Amino acid sequence: MWVPEERIKHALPSARAPSVDEARAARWFAPAPLGPRRAHRRTWVPAMVPWRASADGDATPEVVAWYRALARGKPGVLVVEATGIRDVPSGPLLRIGDDRFIPSLRRIVDAVREASGGETLLLIQLIDFLSVRRRPAREVFLARYLDVGERHLAALRERGRPVRDAAEARAALAELDDAALREVLDPREREALDYGARERVTDVHLPHVATLPRVLPQLFVEAARRAEAAGFDGVELHYAHAYTMASFLSATNTRRDGYGGSLGERLRLPGEVLAAVRARLGGRLIVGLRYLADEIIPGGTGVEEAILIGLELARGGADFLSLSRGGKFDDAAQPKVGQAVYPYTGRSGYECMPSYVSDARGPFGRNLDATARIKRALVEDGLATPVVVAGGIHAFDQAEGILARGDADFVAAARQTLADPDWFEKLRLGRGDEVRRCTYTNYCEALDQRHKMVTCKLWDRVALDEPGVVLDETGHRRLVPPAWPR
Ligand SMILES: Cc1cc2nc3c(=O)[nH]c(=O)nc-3n(C[C@H](O)[C@H](O)[C@H](O)COP(=O)(O)O)c2cc1C
Ligand code: SF4
Repeated sequence: MWVPEERIKHALPSARAPSVDEARAARWFAPAPLGPRRAHRRTWVPAMVPWRASADGDATPEVVAWYRALARGKPGVLVVEATGIRDVPSGPLLRIGDDRFIPSLRRIVDAVREASGGETLLLIQLIDFLSVRRRPAREVFLARYLDVGERHLAALRERGRPVRDAAEARAALAELDDAALREVLDPREREALDYGARERVTDVHLPHVATLPRVLPQLFVEAARRAEAAGFDGVELHYAHAYTMASFLSATNTRRDGYGGSLGERLRLPGEVLAAVRARLGGRLIVGLRYLADEIIPGGTGVEEAILIGLELARGGADFLSLSRGGKFDDAAQPKVGQAVYPYTGRSGYECMPSYVSDARGPFGRNLDATARIKRALVEDGLATPVVVAGGIHAFDQAEGILARGDADFVAAARQTLADPDWFEKLRLGRGDEVRRCTYTNYCEALDQRHKMVTCKLWDRVALDEPGVVLDETGHRRLVPPAWPR
């Protein structure tokens, strides 16, 4: 993973445990409205993919156990991992692209209701993504994937290789050295060779990409309808990171069909999806969204535009705006042959999940300034839309400070909650000294990158003989944290 060149190793800042009385009076543990519902508290667990779904996209017992463990800490809001809205195979990622997924999703809902005593609002993050191929071996790319055309034949002839057809061209290309081959390939072909072919929302020559604006609103609406049928309190539209909707919002979206170019046009599809889902759920469910306070890529959307995006989507009726940061393909590291490019391996990925090896700013609260600016702009515009901040939130005083200043309305913690899902309850009950504190090593994120079942290094080898413990396929890592004896 990319880390800032300063490579400063940050120690974990001290974190004070509040007394019971302090916790009782705390803003973080106070209720707050969220769309048509009311959250018991302002604590929030953002989406985290645990890589535990079945190959068919169903919630396995391990998925259910994961959410049951997260719900025991009774966060105000818990967001279920990015869940695919199409009915297409996507590996062990949750799916909601057909009614047959409803019963398995309902098992997550039931487990969360029971474990939280009904005190946690449960949302599901709805995602669409375009195709990303694994990086091919050179010979496989030239034999199978490269779409050989007249341009390649002409380039080879110029180099004194009189090829007559595509088959001869493939053979001739295979004989070129790397430097010569790169001269023959265009930039997208070079990218397909070096990283694996990746579709973009600007590939409007592809019919399924050109028609995204016509297809996506209905796909999101149907997914939201299923979320309601499964019993969720609401949906979070995934407009962040490297995926389709974030790519429409991005300043890099140059589509010329009215859905790219100016900010107004880039906002058009995200606004239409939001409006369609709201119309379908009719204020019965929470309909919010997650987007980027800053894309952190050259030529990408920065905070100034993110403010305008927030204003527009809040005016469009979003029940909350959850702000993330970075996580793009554009600056991702080159994957090994046979692996897929991963959008959290470059600088933008670092900003999304910063580790303890950092620059002078350190990994804590890096998304706060940008989020606070977005929140201020909403307030100045008379919009009460709740704002959720995430990124390096690790301590009670830090969260209280954010809420006291009005920088956000909900304070989210992903990795700290993974390290200790009970931490909200420990703090609330005056037992904060028992919190298992995340060390921001990104061991969990490395597992995510390798599409392995995500665990935390602080607990996956602890008490392996605990009764009923479920281990991974190696038998060396437990899949849920050790129980907290209350
Ligand atoms: C293992 C893992 C999986 C994640 N999966 C998602 C996801 O499905 N959707 C999403 O929006 N963010 C995802 N994230 C990002 C987190 O929601 C969060 O924004 C990020 O980790 C920064 O917050 P933190 O510093 O509290 O961990 C994931 C993070 C981790 C560590
Ligand atoms: S593995 Fe555990 S300690 Fe390390 S970053 Fe992830 S949650 Fe934190």
